[in-house]
Amino acid sequence: MTRTVYVNGDYLPEDEATVSIFDRGFVMADAVYEVVSVLEGKLLEFGGHLARLKRSLDALSIDNPLSDDEYLDAHRVLVEKNAITDGMVYLQVTRGNAGDRDFAYPPAGTRPTVVMYTQAKPGLADAPLAKTGLRVITVEDQRWARRDIKTVQLLYPSMAKMEAKARGADDAWLVEDGRVTEGTSNNAYIIKDGRIITRELSNDILHGITRASVLRLAREAQMQIEERSFTVAEAQAADEAFITSASAFVLPVIEIDGTAIGAGKPGQMAARLREIYLEESRKTGI
Ligand code: PDD
Repeated sequence: MTRTVYVNGDYLPEDEATVSIFDRGFVMADAVYEVVSVLEGKLLEFGGHLARLKRSLDALSIDNPLSDDEYLDAHRVLVEKNAITDGMVYLQVTRGNAGDRDFAYPPAGTRPTVVMYTQAKPGLADAPLAKTGLRVITVEDQRWARRDIKTVQLLYPSMAKMEAKARGADDAWLVEDGRVTEGTSNNAYIIKDGRIITRELSNDILHGITRASVLRLAREAQMQIEERSFTVAEAQAADEAFITSASAFVLPVIEIDGTAIGAGKPGQMAARLREIYLEESRKTGI
């Protein structure tokens, strides 16, 4: 089946969808994105992702080209047309086609480019990594200083991911001034003496939509939370570690730079959080 994708209001077969070579997203990485998971045909955390999209657009003074209903409608149309049961919808909004390349933004009124497409991921909630856990390495965080804006400048996280793979690991945690910021494409957590520790919100990390929900659900389950940064040594001495993201949900981390975390097996609290998060997602998906 040829995938149907969305480009600026049109639904097209993927091989007919095009964006200009002058598009600011292509030339300058001048674009923001969101990833919404689809579980059993339902969109997860749609409201949260839409709110963050608008925050990212605002932070970069890119006009928001669509209404909330138009975004939702397009997501639903794509899920339906592509028969997605489990998977995700990728959404990207760029500053648009500037004509000539120029560091200055194009004139007001230049239409932003909107692209959306689906990726099928059958069995999304049964990821094998939930049972085996992830091995992570740590690398220096060399990204720009506005990581709270979800831009498509993903080259450094890609490089870190490749280094992780080259070293036989699954992912990398990024470290600044000796303290973990987040994963290449996820938020990072440790658990010590029953307390969940994760970096506080600031411009240093992406304000994860999954993070917000997982912390809320953890509080509701009477778990203790400390929002503060932690060192790599502290993480290596933790009882458990885990990550969260829209596509991973909650996944346990069992090793950091070759050091086993806790018993070197997925921890119980992370497993419980994954369970609670999936249960809630199945209830609240739209
Ligand atoms: N990544 N931190 C970074 C750097 C991320 O790229 C992501 C998400 C997160 C988790 O955010 P959320 O819970 O809202 O998905 C944290 C997405 C999934 C991606 O790039 O594919």
